[in-house]
Amino acid sequence: MLRTHTCNDLDIHNIGISVTLAGWVHSRRDHGGIIFIDLRDRYGITQLRFDPESNKKVWKQADELRNEWVIEAKGSVIKRPNDMINKKLNSGEIEIDVDELKVLNRAKTPPFELEEEKIDEIKEELRMEYRYIDLRKKSSIETLIKRHEFISFLRSYLNEKEFIEIETPVLTKSTPEGARDFLVPSRLQAGKFYALPQSPQQYKQLLMLSGVDKYYQIAKCFRDEDTRGDRQPEFTQLDMEMSFVEQDDILKLTEDLFTGAIESVFPDKKFLAKPWPRLNYDEVMLKYGVDKPDLRFGMEIKDLTSLVKGCKFKVFADTVERGNVVRALCAPKSALKLSRSQINGLTEHVKKFGAKGLAYIIVEKGGLKSPIVKFLGSELAKKIVREVEAKEGDIIFFGADTKAIVCESLGNLRIKLGQKLNLIDEDLIALAFIVDCPLFEERLENEHYAPAHHMFTAPKDEDLKLLDTDPGKARSYQYDIVANGFEVGGGSIRIHDKKTQEKIFDLIGFNEERKKQFKHFLRAFEYGAPPHGGIAPGIDRMLMVLMNKSSIRDVMAFPKTGDGRDLMMDAPNEIEKKQLDELHLKIK
Ligand code: AMO
Ligand code: AMP
Repeated sequence: MLRTHTCNDLDIHNIGISVTLAGWVHSRRDHGGIIFIDLRDRYGITQLRFDPESNKKVWKQADELRNEWVIEAKGSVIKRPNDMINKKLNSGEIEIDVDELKVLNRAKTPPFELEEEKIDEIKEELRMEYRYIDLRKKSSIETLIKRHEFISFLRSYLNEKEFIEIETPVLTKSTPEGARDFLVPSRLQAGKFYALPQSPQQYKQLLMLSGVDKYYQIAKCFRDEDTRGDRQPEFTQLDMEMSFVEQDDILKLTEDLFTGAIESVFPDKKFLAKPWPRLNYDEVMLKYGVDKPDLRFGMEIKDLTSLVKGCKFKVFADTVERGNVVRALCAPKSALKLSRSQINGLTEHVKKFGAKGLAYIIVEKGGLKSPIVKFLGSELAKKIVREVEAKEGDIIFFGADTKAIVCESLGNLRIKLGQKLNLIDEDLIALAFIVDCPLFEERLENEHYAPAHHMFTAPKDEDLKLLDTDPGKARSYQYDIVANGFEVGGGSIRIHDKKTQEKIFDLIGFNEERKKQFKHFLRAFEYGAPPHGGIAPGIDRMLMVLMNKSSIRDVMAFPKTGDGRDLMMDAPNEIEKKQLDELHLKIK
């Protein structure tokens, strides 16, 4: 080793010993001739002292040092004078009186400073281009360590429970999971392509048919989607599958596993509820407008459709007449916090989701202030106030439209108001399962059904008959995990008989060609398939939520930009003509 200790090992108990440290020059200060260097490595910082009086030669060498040079320093541990103690560092009471210095490597001036407080001012693109420098920050290293500890916990917990970690191929055939595939052209099979897995879905189910019984994998998944704050083209799932289980077994295991992991790695997090609530999908859509509610605050949406039926306010009455819905949410103590122009801003916000307006009633001491009360009439207005339990100082906001538009606009308004009105406690982690999900997404007339989760999800036993009569009404054994307003995991009990699987293929409009792509899968189910199910929590998204980061990029070592580029490697990139020829490809 080029060192005897790390930069976080030494303290007052080591006074007098001779040591060798190695690391990066973090900063330097000159104090009346004496040079102090903060030497940094992954573990911490230790101060080096170069005194011209005691060793002129080494002092001269130190005078050359610049930030981020890599050095090795030999010397003895001495106590710092009392007025120079730094309580923030483990090594803050000592320093190294250096008598030998070796420069291991010089460094150019870095493109940005590594000061934590200033890092947000630096353009993210620059930080991504020089990611290896950005990762030198204390906070970056800490994030990587947290991620490692979290994943280690998951592994040991599952190993303990007799799960087997199995790697599945990355060069495979496309799994239709809803996103676009990343494709890899084959050299040996001209004109044919592999797809990178959107998830190991088919493999893990087939492993159940092999009798593996309990499988897991820290699996890389690839989806060619437009990137967003909570989405990357390649990301990591804890992929799991189990045989001879029911929904409850999987939920219980997942809850215990992640509760344990969070308590162990993020001990300061407060759980909103333990056990995690299991919420009915329809109820969630009504109360929160979205299928991934942020449960850290209340402000639930109430349905007023029957209350306002036939009322004098045309917008509401006509909406109900057309078979649509009128719903409202009550923003507590918001009257003094939201100006007229801010309310206009909120109106513009809901219009992004298709709303035609945002009617409101302000509950004031003297009565109700609103552009719509004169139409509603004070009797009905009072009934509404009672129904939504509004108090003095609150504002009631209304949505009147199709169910989908009202859900989306009020759901997003709720989140916006939660932030604006400071209703969110950042230390809280609000985990819940969403259950009783529909088997299919809502569909337009004459269109095929589309799976709400994926096509291998089993319909609820009691709804099997609905597949023949009214498939849109069928519920499934699908479950999602939500955390602080994000979907952090999803899974289901799977179909394990060929007939039902074929029926689903028909309902989602698979033609013979498409069905042929699944021949291998259907065939497997003729050779003894156990009942099975699984789940796949998204590790990146889970960590983003737990660390209160605004993007999953912040919890990944080498993330991609919004348009899917790796700025450090400069990928994707052109390839040589020779490579194209070998792959039988021509660029259009
Ligand atoms: P699903 O598609 O719901 O299910 O994905 C499971 C979880 O993976 C995470 N996730 C993502 N994270 C970052 N970037 C992305 N582009 C991205 N896409 C998904 C989310 C999501 O909840 N095979 C099934 C699981 C199963 O049925 O067992 C699947 O992949 O946190
Ligand atoms: P109008 O009668 O169009 O002037 O609308 C009166 C109030 O109702 C305004 O505050 C509008 O923003 C609001 N409004 C209009 N249409 C809708 C709708 N579909 N849902 C909720 N509010 C609406």
